[in-house]
Amino acid sequence: MCLTILAIETSCDDTCAAVISNGIIKSNIISSQIDHAKLGGVVPEIASRSHQKSMIYIVDSALIKSGYKKEDLDAVAFTNGPGLLGSLLVGSTFAKSFAYGLNIPLIAVNHINAHSLSHTINKSNIKYPFLSLIISGGHTQIALVKSYNKIKIVGETRDDAVGEAFDKCAKILGLDYPGGPFIDKLSKKGEDDKFLFPDTKIPELDFSFSGIKTSFLYFINKESKKNKDFVSKNINDIAASIQKKLVYMLLEKLFKASKKYGISEIAIGGGVAANSYLRSELHNISKTHNWNIYFPKMEYCTDNAAMIANYAHYMFMDDDFSNIDVVPFSRI
Ligand code: KG4
Ligand code: ZN
Repeated sequence: MCLTILAIETSCDDTCAAVISNGIIKSNIISSQIDHAKLGGVVPEIASRSHQKSMIYIVDSALIKSGYKKEDLDAVAFTNGPGLLGSLLVGSTFAKSFAYGLNIPLIAVNHINAHSLSHTINKSNIKYPFLSLIISGGHTQIALVKSYNKIKIVGETRDDAVGEAFDKCAKILGLDYPGGPFIDKLSKKGEDDKFLFPDTKIPELDFSFSGIKTSFLYFINKESKKNKDFVSKNINDIAASIQKKLVYMLLEKLFKASKKYGISEIAIGGGVAANSYLRSELHNISKTHNWNIYFPKMEYCTDNAAMIANYAHYMFMDDDFSNIDVVPFSRI
């Protein structure tokens, strides 16, 4: 039997479509809404209007690239939340109409669960249980994953997401949005112990990133008053120091979670999983602590429809379909 699913992801600013057949990704198309860079962040209304403009072209491209026709599809999957409501509505309305028109099942996928399983894309031997660290512009959480649909959040941010902290610190330094990749790049030429930033201690496995962002702003303002060229002269060291701080705020909690649950299988997902310092630190930790670390391929770290297609494949196998009146949700 050939099981082919079209998946659509519109939780934030990227319009994405992918086709999966028998558990293997056949196409994965992403249209980035670069206009947001000029505006310093994602503007929800612009994002949803842009999804409307791109949707048909992106879905068409995903089908053409996969070599499948719409008549070959067995189901249509889409991101049902969490995300920006207007953006989710564009994707879900398209998916519902497409599935209805083709008279095939509809699969509503949770975006965060899809990130948690994104390291399993195109793989068949998945080791459960594992801990999943999801780090993106909208989310920072640790989940205990016992099977694809038994996912328990055991720690999460109480305010900003870590990607947001990267982006806000980058903005303070005058870097473009999204700033995470710029901080990553500059850090490669910087000393990561040059500047130290205070921490807000949060109990258990929860996170908080709003305090570090504020102390970073005060630090930059104070030093810039003393020396107006402080940022331009020290940008690499500042980037490396704040990056180290943010990454270790994540790793500290991951150590705690691994100890608490006695699990050393660790999967990382979300846009910040692309960070090269985090990757190299985890590579070293995997040797010293006997952790098995699973990273998705780079293209599956940031928002993409391949992870939605992958998760939808598991749901299809369980006959976990949705009704046409399923309602998108913005927050967990
Ligand atoms: O998962 P994603 O594409 O979208 C959300 O669901 O938020 O994540 C985007 C986030 C942004 O905050 C961006 O700055 C961050 O991921 N990011 C990075 C890197 N690449 C993307 N942060 C640090 N280092 C990177 N290399
Ligand atoms: Zn995401």
